Amino acid sequence: MSHPADSTLTCRPSRNGSGNAVWTAPVQPLIRKLATAESALHAAHLLRLGEHDRAMRFMGYVNDAHIERYCGEAGRNERCVLAYFEDGVVRGVAEAVFEARPAWRGTCELALSVESGHQGRGIGTELMRRAIVLARNRGATPVRILFLRENRRMRALALKLGMSLAVNGTEIEASLRPQWPNQFTVLAENLGDGHAWWSRWLAGNTSHAKRAAHV
Ligand SMILES: CC(C)(COP(=O)(O)OP(=O)(O)OC[C@H]1O[C@@H](n2cnc3c(N)ncnc32)[C@H](O)[C@@H]1OP(=O)(O)O)[C@@H](O)C(=O)NCCC(=O)NCCS
Repeated sequence: MSHPADSTLTCRPSRNGSGNAVWTAPVQPLIRKLATAESALHAAHLLRLGEHDRAMRFMGYVNDAHIERYCGEAGRNERCVLAYFEDGVVRGVAEAVFEARPAWRGTCELALSVESGHQGRGIGTELMRRAIVLARNRGATPVRILFLRENRRMRALALKLGMSLAVNGTEIEASLRPQWPNQFTVLAENLGDGHAWWSRWLAGNTSHAKRAAHV
């Protein structure tokens, strides 16, 4: 299976209304950091989670107002939200909350969600992998994620990424002590940021070209 995050950005020229070549890009799946001002995109994604997934994500029932409040508070913490976009819509999110300021040598708590129609395609794994790199680059340790014991998918994912599990009643805490960051982990994060910036620029160019072609 080709991984959504592996898709390469292919550009092709098209013609606008005046017959000039315009460089455009097909819409590609994209993982990028959300800005604090984009908390509504985060909330809309969490609100679309089905009842079961929402309960798994928050480890219990939470209503819509709780989710809106939770996302609105995002900017106040040392929090980084990585979002998976498909056709411009956020379909998956990995959140990293750093408990120390600065993050260096403090705990990083992760949370993960992928909408049901998009699960089982490796998106959760890729988001989590990138979130761990992000935590590692900030020197956070340990990196933890809490989930319910019945959450088999999350359990499989944590084991796949080398986390150790500690069962505590109905909950499981998966944790990992990342190695020191190095030039490759910093480069990996920067390449992701650069790819996201470039994709957004091309997507903006594409919609501009489409509008121009219709005038
Ligand atoms: C947990 C969650 C994020 C996984 O996202 P995803 O995109 O489906 O994850 P992936 O496709 O990368 O699959 C991860 C692993 O889950 C396991 N898995 C997949 N489907 C499974 C199933 N039906 N039952 C058990 N395990 C399953 C597999 O081991 C898979 O890895 P593999 O395909 O390499 O073997 C998603 O199910 C979700 O959003 N759940 C609700 C929220 C939640 O539980 N969050 C965790 C607590 S914060």
